[in-house]
Amino acid sequence: MINGERLISRPLRWAMVGGGRTGQVGYKHRTGALRDGNYQLVAGAFDLDAEMGRDFGVNLGVAAERCYPDYRALIAGETARKDGIDVVSIATPNFTHYEITKACLEAGLHVICEKPLFFTVAECDEVARLAEQKGLIVGVTYGYTGHPLVHQMAAMVKKGMLGDIRIVDLQYTHGFNAGDDVGAGEAVKWRTNPRTAGPTFVLGDIGTHLYYLSEIVLPHMKVERLLCDRKAFIPTRAPLEDHATVLMHYDNGARGRLWVSSVNAGNMGSQRYRFIGSRASLEWSDSRPDQLIYQVQGEPERILHHGMPYLEEESLAIDRMGALHTEGLGDSWSNIYLWIAQAIDAANRGDRAFLKTHHYPGIAAGTEGVRWLENCVRSADAGATWVDFA
Ligand code: NAI
Repeated sequence: MINGERLISRPLRWAMVGGGRTGQVGYKHRTGALRDGNYQLVAGAFDLDAEMGRDFGVNLGVAAERCYPDYRALIAGETARKDGIDVVSIATPNFTHYEITKACLEAGLHVICEKPLFFTVAECDEVARLAEQKGLIVGVTYGYTGHPLVHQMAAMVKKGMLGDIRIVDLQYTHGFNAGDDVGAGEAVKWRTNPRTAGPTFVLGDIGTHLYYLSEIVLPHMKVERLLCDRKAFIPTRAPLEDHATVLMHYDNGARGRLWVSSVNAGNMGSQRYRFIGSRASLEWSDSRPDQLIYQVQGEPERILHHGMPYLEEESLAIDRMGALHTEGLGDSWSNIYLWIAQAIDAANRGDRAFLKTHHYPGIAAGTEGVRWLENCVRSADAGATWVDFA
């Protein structure tokens, strides 16, 4: 069980780029990072509007002189200080991730970056080489993948409790973009423009969460071929999609079906995962994250609750609240930030042995998401045809 006790040698001096007052994801980062005292927020370039960013930073408790107008000033100012930052989180629109990540790594700073990591696999590979060369960590934040019941699913699959995996059914949908974008806010504007969002809208925005979580649960399975059909129901969003379905063939013969949509009017179901094996199935949804449905063929359905002693050690070890008390998205983010802090701490100490076995969402997790997106786009743009996964 995780109880906030420090698991690294010293707290990391931490800064954020983006995640300002109006940013959607910024507070999730701060919730995750500040929970266990592994990070101290000491600097930031929180907003495109420098004045608002400064005011916001000061209200977060950051010294005014360490609230910078942009990421370049942040890097210059902090690398000149003896007590400068160790790590930067990047919570800005997609098109800025690559340049900010590169600049931070070149300055010797560890990075925690939002998904989708970059626009292309070539960019991911280049940055992975740079991070390796510098001995620095790049972490990626897929929100729910630190939840104890996600790791319960992985442990049950690994133990063979489902039998052979046959069907993977993934859904992340909502209806917040069911209407047109007239008068839409910044977060919708940049998401629906290929220059700022990259080659996809909902596939990258929400589909990459599904794909990475399924990789955690099914690390032994690889996608061999896929077919992606995407559409912009609101035509101004084309060539990007607000709705897509992806069929996947896995190397063990399993079949996958993934549905992402931001035009599922009225739907608040958000994420749903179903893993179907030859003997049993698991189903988990973020609308009831504390409960995991376990169905064995021919037996009554069971609902497993987080924190209960009947769960696998892999799940209990990362539980925070204990059974009876709700464990949710904030707890998951805290685990993700803890795992990345442990990786950074090990890198700082030159502990390569620890890094070899330590599980955390690193650059490979970001790269695989981008690779999956490239394959989806290739298939969709060829008229929704099957493509070999490259
Ligand atoms: P947003 O548009 O709501 O907020 C972006 C923030 O970044 C704003 O505060 C803006 O002023 C600031 N900003 C923009 N460019 C900047 C720059 N060059 N320097 C400093 N600040 C800058 O965007 P949102 O929804 O928060 O998304 C940000 C990123 O987080 C995206 O990559 C998105 O895909 C990802 N995201 C991830 C989630 C997750 O669960 N992991 C959830 C929501 C978003």
